[in-house]
Amino acid sequence: MILEITQYGNPILRRKCRKITELTEELRQFGEDLIETMISAQGVGLAAPQVDRDLRMAVVDVSHDPECITYLRVDGEEVALEELMPLVFINPVLELCGEKEAVTEGCLSIDGITAEVRRPSEVKATLQLLDGQTVVVETDGLLARAIQHEVDHLNGVLFVDRLSTAKKVSIRGKLRKLSI
Ligand code: NI
Repeated sequence: MILEITQYGNPILRRKCRKITELTEELRQFGEDLIETMISAQGVGLAAPQVDRDLRMAVVDVSHDPECITYLRVDGEEVALEELMPLVFINPVLELCGEKEAVTEGCLSIDGITAEVRRPSEVKATLQLLDGQTVVVETDGLLARAIQHEVDHLNGVLFVDRLSTAKKVSIRGKLRKLSI
């Protein structure tokens, strides 16, 4: 089922989402709905609060561009990108590493605004999958960035919060219009 995407100004986007303690059938179906909604909106990621759910669950899919990462390991073993995508994950814990890089980001909840965001280039993410299994995912490139962007959503943080002061000032008017 395709869900409605919440937009900038909706208070759910500012909430620290709740940890998932039990993986019910309803939550598994919700994971499928997240995938379907992300695909229909042509996004590379979507988090539960973006469809009005206060839960630590999100999805990413960067398989449209196999060159966007240089490595991907699951529990220490090399994995092909398309094997892991789309990746629905629950209760993520991130370790960030690598040099900070500035790359242009956008967000399905912030229509019409893109801007360069500086983030660490690599992540080691401990994630729970929809089948309840816990895995450690290590990667870089666009996937590392998408995971960080989605985990930010689960903490009520948006990419526009991470911009330079000058850039924040320059998009202030656009953001104000979005939140009316
Ligand atoms: Ni977003």
